[in-house]
Amino acid sequence: QCRFAGGNGDTMSRLIIVSNRLPVSLDAQPDGSYALRQNVGGLATAIGPYHSSHHDCLWVGWSGEDPADHTPEEIEAIRSTYEENRCIPLFLSAEQVAGFYAGFSNNTLWPLMHDFSHEAVFDPGTWETYSHVNQLFADALAPLIRKGDTVWVQDYHLMLLPNILRQRFNNISIGWFLHVPFPSPEIFRSLPQSREILKGVLGADLLGFHTVDFVENFKSCVQQLLDIETDDAGHIAVDGGHTATVDAFPIGIDYNLYRRTTRSSLARAMRRGIEEQSGKRPGRHHDTSLSAESSAAAEAATKSGSWWSHHVHEELPELTLAQSAMFGKDSKPNKVVVSVDRLDYTKGLPERLRAFERLLEKYPEWIGHVTYYLLATPSRGDVETYQRLKQQVDQLVGKINGRFSMLAWTPIHYITRSLPIKPVCGIYAAGDVALVTPLRDGMNLVAKEYLACHDGRDGALVLSDMCGAAEELGEAFIVNPYDIEMTCEALHDALEISPEESTRRNRAMQARIKARTAGTWCAGFLDALLQVSNPGLDDKRL
Ligand code: ADP
Ligand code: F6P
Repeated sequence: QCRFAGGNGDTMSRLIIVSNRLPVSLDAQPDGSYALRQNVGGLATAIGPYHSSHHDCLWVGWSGEDPADHTPEEIEAIRSTYEENRCIPLFLSAEQVAGFYAGFSNNTLWPLMHDFSHEAVFDPGTWETYSHVNQLFADALAPLIRKGDTVWVQDYHLMLLPNILRQRFNNISIGWFLHVPFPSPEIFRSLPQSREILKGVLGADLLGFHTVDFVENFKSCVQQLLDIETDDAGHIAVDGGHTATVDAFPIGIDYNLYRRTTRSSLARAMRRGIEEQSGKRPGRHHDTSLSAESSAAAEAATKSGSWWSHHVHEELPELTLAQSAMFGKDSKPNKVVVSVDRLDYTKGLPERLRAFERLLEKYPEWIGHVTYYLLATPSRGDVETYQRLKQQVDQLVGKINGRFSMLAWTPIHYITRSLPIKPVCGIYAAGDVALVTPLRDGMNLVAKEYLACHDGRDGALVLSDMCGAAEELGEAFIVNPYDIEMTCEALHDALEISPEESTRRNRAMQARIKARTAGTWCAGFLDALLQVSNPGLDDKRL
């Protein structure tokens, strides 16, 4: 029995967040205990800090563990470690995960929501599992819910849950927020279950989207598919006397957390390492002897033990160009480009890599002087489209590195592991340029995190116009991510921008991000929910 179940004599109402994935995962330790690891993704980043700092707030979600892989004792240990952190885990079988998560959520809804309808798979079997698992989430919530509680449902995995909850409990407030885009009716109507999905989310009192455009798309779908109009205040009168309200709530980040973390010793060490490796500052990874043009200096270098680089340079200058130019007085300054993503086809990684390759082709003066640190963690490995993307990105990185590498310079450092926040901040801080070029994205928090890690200083952001963040970050180098030539030019301009100009642009964007943090976003949504919902006291269940 869950330690948070029932009234426990306490009648205080609580906030219960529900999402597919919990904000943390557990890693088994050799001594049988479990260590917490922060999950990657916008949802965990944005709401995780609110949950940790509000001690009456619970979070219900999938444990990520298959019960068939564990003994009952292990399951108990997993459950209790989660509960110590106010997380209530749901255990789903491999079959349920395949139909609900990999299937309907990520193979049908995800591509549709991101305008990738050609990737969407319509399978009645996965729909059935999706509906069933939404019911299982309601079952998991049932013992926890008290009169007056607020249940805040997250994202596209749980679009039937709001109405299931409304049918079962009428004395709670129900919110739902979509962390991805909402498509136009032309796309959404191709989903065979589009009406059921709309009715499912309309069970909520308040429905939130990242942008006004997504709200408009949703309203058009409701009008065209359910024949219900939305009034000017965003009210949608649903059957049975219930009124749902829709509005835009652009999500933010915990700005101070990123700013602070950038100053941590690990972040600083990471930044320093990248700066040394890329030749931005001298360090043990670079043999500076070849900057010396004079034979006297070369001789000195030889004496100091770095004979090999001089020798290779004499024989194969094209392979050591980077090294010889790196510290030469007339050469270009060395620069670092960074990006941080889940390996997802919506993030535009192949297009971005082609733009980087084009830069080296079109502006060869950057060869040896710009190093790209590409952090891309594999995601949703059970879905075929993601497996294909991983292969494509691996091949492209290999191709570009093979084509341009020199003895002491590799154009792309490709890191596929998921890193904790401190090294991620170090990578952001080291980046003279951040390449954030999703083909489609609800908001994109990476763009905001990069700017927070450059608080008060220079650093240029190249940003796709296909994400919600572009509406707030107009001073960035805005690109159409499908346009390789345009992205290449923007990258070139971003590498050339003066520190004064990029600091000036950043200041304007940072002021906006600071004013709209993850905390103010959570509070804003919950306040609005309180305004529109009025949990009745005529209790159906309690
Ligand atoms: P999404 O929710 O689609 O993944 P967002 O840009 O909104 O996209 O949020 C991604 C979040 O996950 C950010 O907080 C980012 O720092 C984090 N993240 C993404 N990729 C990685 C990675 N490879 N390692 C560590 N954190 C990552
Ligand atoms: O932000 C969109 C989102 O789908 C979140 O719901 C999710 O936490 C994140 O991306 C990461 O995806 P996943 O949980 O499938 O790894």
